[in-house]
Amino acid sequence: MPPLLELRGLTRSVRLPDRRSLDILRGIDLVVRSGEHVSVVGRSGSGKTTLLNLLGLIDRPTSGSLLFDGLDVTRLSDRRRAHLRGASVGFVFQQFNLLDGRTALENVMMPMLYGTARQFWRRERTAREMLDRVGLADRARSTPNRLSGGEQQRVAVARALVRRPRLILADEPTGALDVTTGEAVMALLDQIARDSGAALVTITHDLQVAALSDRSYLLDEGTLHAVDTDSARSALAGTGGIRTGREAVRTASPSTGSPASAPGGGA
Ligand SMILES: Nc1ncnc2c1ncn2[C@@H]1O[C@H](COP(=O)(O)OP(=O)(O)OP(=O)(O)O)[C@@H](O)[C@H]1O
Ligand SMILES: [Mg+2]
Repeated sequence: MPPLLELRGLTRSVRLPDRRSLDILRGIDLVVRSGEHVSVVGRSGSGKTTLLNLLGLIDRPTSGSLLFDGLDVTRLSDRRRAHLRGASVGFVFQQFNLLDGRTALENVMMPMLYGTARQFWRRERTAREMLDRVGLADRARSTPNRLSGGEQQRVAVARALVRRPRLILADEPTGALDVTTGEAVMALLDQIARDSGAALVTITHDLQVAALSDRSYLLDEGTLHAVDTDSARSALAGTGGIRTGREAVRTASPSTGSPASAPGGGA
């Protein structure tokens, strides 16, 4: 069985207004298999969201190959890529991105409006099941402005998972939450992803979040370096303190960073 994601020499450059080219990603090799949880840490501006948008079939790489379940998605038309994305990828964002005027239930039902006929007809029942799974069955009729940040992110998790995606991408999912709430939401996301057999890629500034994953990477100046999760974990255990993003990334980068960008993703 091919891995779910296979990136070889992936680059992404953009043209700046002054016509210079900015090389954001400079040759990324990564393999992610179904059921794995991989985390990516890196400084602000290091290209994490750019990488996630490539993995999520939103943007196209400038060069290199990106295989999704063995399929070269760089060759797909925009329409087919969008279709594959809707069916196979769930997103969780830092700012939740829920629709304000809609209830929690309506937000979770939304992706199924574009799903298969079966998903469409069962959308309310499925959405209620997912809300129950994230512990919010009794808040189905609440709009986001009536929910706490942690509750909103749990609704967003339910929405991301409701079409049973094979790949879940989370961009700073705990970034807008306090530490305890963030840990609870992250543990829930990790558990639901594992139960469903999906692959989860989490971008985070927080090593406590990264420590939940099976493998961690540091994105630095457009290249990806494997970092040892156990080292990250014991470094955290030694301090027990709360880390800011910058500190967390600095802790991850020395000694534990492998020189190669881990071709094969260490898998
Ligand atoms: N379409 C674009 N045009 C020009 N520059 C871009 C574009 N997209 C991203 N960049 C630049 O590329 C760099 C990486 O951006 P990206 O959003 O991937 O960073 P990030 O690691 O997610 O940062 P943060 O932690 O702050 O979210 C930044 O310097 C950004 O300004
Ligand atoms: Mg970002």
